[in-house]
Amino acid sequence: ASAARAYHKNVVDHYNKPRNVGSFDKNDTNVGTGLVGAPACGDVMKLQIRVNENGEIIDSCFKTFGCGSAIASSSVATEWIKGKAMDEALKIKNTEIAKHLVLPPVKLHCSMLAEDAIKAAIADIKAKRQKANPAADTQE
Ligand code: FES
Ligand code: FES
Repeated sequence: ASAARAYHKNVVDHYNKPRNVGSFDKNDTNVGTGLVGAPACGDVMKLQIRVNENGEIIDSCFKTFGCGSAIASSSVATEWIKGKAMDEALKIKNTEIAKHLVLPPVKLHCSMLAEDAIKAAIADIKAKRQKANPAADTQE
């Protein structure tokens, strides 16, 4: 059915009350930090993850200096990655976030920022752990 495009109330809620806004200590050995910028508009997003021994993301937070769609995308991203293994979180596509938030095409890059930030945060903690323990097998 060609239903009128209605935003689910939970999605609207991500615009009005973004979840998980905040910061973790980036020097914490269990914290990964992703800082990415959108060349198109200059907006910047910082997304952080807290990862346990098993490579599961147990917590996540963000700070976004950008548009409402970027803030809502980060909010959804932090909700989605919590409780996921890092490798599962890497599979999240910006198009899924955009669909979830019903973003118009011109705002697709805002959700791309969230996908990039997840990837950057995971790369950061993997590099950190590798550096802390170069001899250990990297967990996949
Ligand atoms: Fe919050 Fe779906 S509405 S993640
Ligand atoms: Fe650039 Fe949304 S992040 S307009």
